Amino acid sequence: MLSSKASSSLNKQIELEAYSSQYYLSMASWAETQGLNEVSTFLYEQADEERMHMLKLIKFVNERGGHGIVPALKQPPVTFKSVKSVFEEVLNHEIKVTEEINGLVEITLKEKDYTTHNFLQWYVSEQIEEEALARQIVDKLKLIGSDKSGLYFFDRDLESMAAKTKSDIDKVNGSGR
Ligand code: FEO
Repeated sequence: MLSSKASSSLNKQIELEAYSSQYYLSMASWAETQGLNEVSTFLYEQADEERMHMLKLIKFVNERGGHGIVPALKQPPVTFKSVKSVFEEVLNHEIKVTEEINGLVEITLKEKDYTTHNFLQWYVSEQIEEEALARQIVDKLKLIGSDKSGLYFFDRDLESMAAKTKSDIDKVNGSGR
């Protein structure tokens, strides 16, 4: 059974994952209007992944005798300065999510809630992967600068870059997902 502290903290995380999904969905829609098809596909997929993170938490909270609360939708930003600024925002957002996950892990240790602690390890690994990918993309965009043809190739290569980073991280972790 979840303590009320664990339950309310997990519900806050549900809200953050839901917002992450909305945020990336908004970025995806903006990128689509800019003709950046692969960037937009990539961000639509990220938005789906965040929804899955939210769902996984809801189901866990319910399984443990709590109540996973579906939060209200908050309006994310709708326009972005550039592709680079989009991915800088993704990176900053993922860093914030990692901090929140670490905070949750700390709460479970204080409360000796080892079941939730164990459940959260999946999120700890996921955050390593998501931060690494966002950082890699931002670094690439810094190299490209304002070169239009570079941006064209970046758009084309985004899918394979995401797949490669995932497989590299899986190798380091010694497992797939
Ligand atoms: Fe679910 Fe990207 O954090």
